[in-house]
Amino acid sequence: MRNVLVTGGAGFIGSNFIRYLLRKEPGVRIINLDALTYAGHMENLTDLPDQDRHVFVEGNICDRDLICQLLHQYDIDTVVHFAAETHVDRSILGPEQFVQTNVIGTFTLLESTRRYWLEEEPMGVEKVRFHHISTDEVYGSLESDASPFSETTPYAPNSPYAASKASSDHLVRSYAHTYGLPVTITNCSNNYGPYQFPEKFIPLMILNALEGRQIPVYGDGNQIRDWLYVDDHCEAILVVLLGGMPGETYNIGGNTQPTNFSRSRFQVRG
Ligand SMILES: NC(=O)c1ccc[n+]([C@@H]2O[C@H](COP(=O)([O-])OP(=O)(O)OC[C@H]3O[C@@H](n4cnc5c(N)ncnc54)[C@H](O)[C@@H]3O)[C@@H](O)[C@H]2O)c1
Repeated sequence: MRNVLVTGGAGFIGSNFIRYLLRKEPGVRIINLDALTYAGHMENLTDLPDQDRHVFVEGNICDRDLICQLLHQYDIDTVVHFAAETHVDRSILGPEQFVQTNVIGTFTLLESTRRYWLEEEPMGVEKVRFHHISTDEVYGSLESDASPFSETTPYAPNSPYAASKASSDHLVRSYAHTYGLPVTITNCSNNYGPYQFPEKFIPLMILNALEGRQIPVYGDGNQIRDWLYVDDHCEAILVVLLGGMPGETYNIGGNTQPTNFSRSRFQVRG
C-alpha cells in the first residue's frame, strides 16, 4: 500500500480514517477525492499529522475522466471508498441522489480501477486492493431478541439509503467474481465521534440537550442500534486492508446494542 485513493475523505469517517492512516502507515501517500457536498468540510482535515502526504482533490466519484486521470497521475494501488450520500431521512425525501452517488459512483470507481489495474497497467492483483465501506443497514432492522447481524445475514434494506448501499455492495462483489478485481467490503454499524455532521443521531441529541431543546426520538424509540467509536472502525478497516482476503466481506460492530431510547437517556444524563 503506497498510493491510496480515499473517496469521501472530507466527511465524518473518511477524515478520521485519513488521520488514522497517516499516523499508522508512514509510507503511504493519500489522494483524497471529495465533492464537498453539504456533508464534506475542509475543516475536518485541519491538523492532519502529516499534511505533505495528503493531496486533496475536489471532484465527483461519478466523473470517470477525473478518476482515470487520478489513477494514472498518482499510480494508485489502493482505493478506500467512503464517498456516499449517507443520511436516511434525506434518502426518503430525495432518493435519486443516493442512486447517483452510491450506485453509479461506485460503479464508476469499479470500472475505472478494473481497466487501470487489470488491463492498462497490470501490476499484479496481489499488489492492488479496492476496499468498499458499507453499512449494516443493508441487513434491515434487528429485533430486540435477535442475534447480531453476521456476514451471512440476508440483505433486507429498508430505506433508499440502505438499498443504494446494498446495490453498491452487490456491484463490488460482482467485480471480484466476474473480473477477479481484488475487493474487500466492510459492513459497519453506527459510528460516533469527532467531525460527525450534526444531523446524525448522537451529535443532534447532544446539541439539543446543550441548548435545552426537545430530544427527538423516532417512533417509540425502541429500535435496536449497534454503536462503534469511529477510531475503532478506522482500525478495523486498516486490519482488513492489510490482512483481509480478497473477495471477502467483514462485519464490524461494537457489540453494544441499546435501543435509541436508552441511548438518548444516557446522552441527556451524561
Ligand atoms: N456514519 C455511520 O454511522 C456509518 C456507518 C456505517 C457505514 N457508513 C458508511 O461510511 C461511509 C462514510 O460515511 P460518513 O458518515 O463519513 O458520511 P458523510 O456523509 O459524513 O461523508 C460523506 C462524504 O462523501 C462526500 N461525497 C458525497 N457524494 C460524493 C460524490 N458524488 N463524489 C465525491 N465525494 C462525495 C461528501 O462530500 C462527504 O465528504 C459511507 O459510505 C457510509 O455509507 C457510515
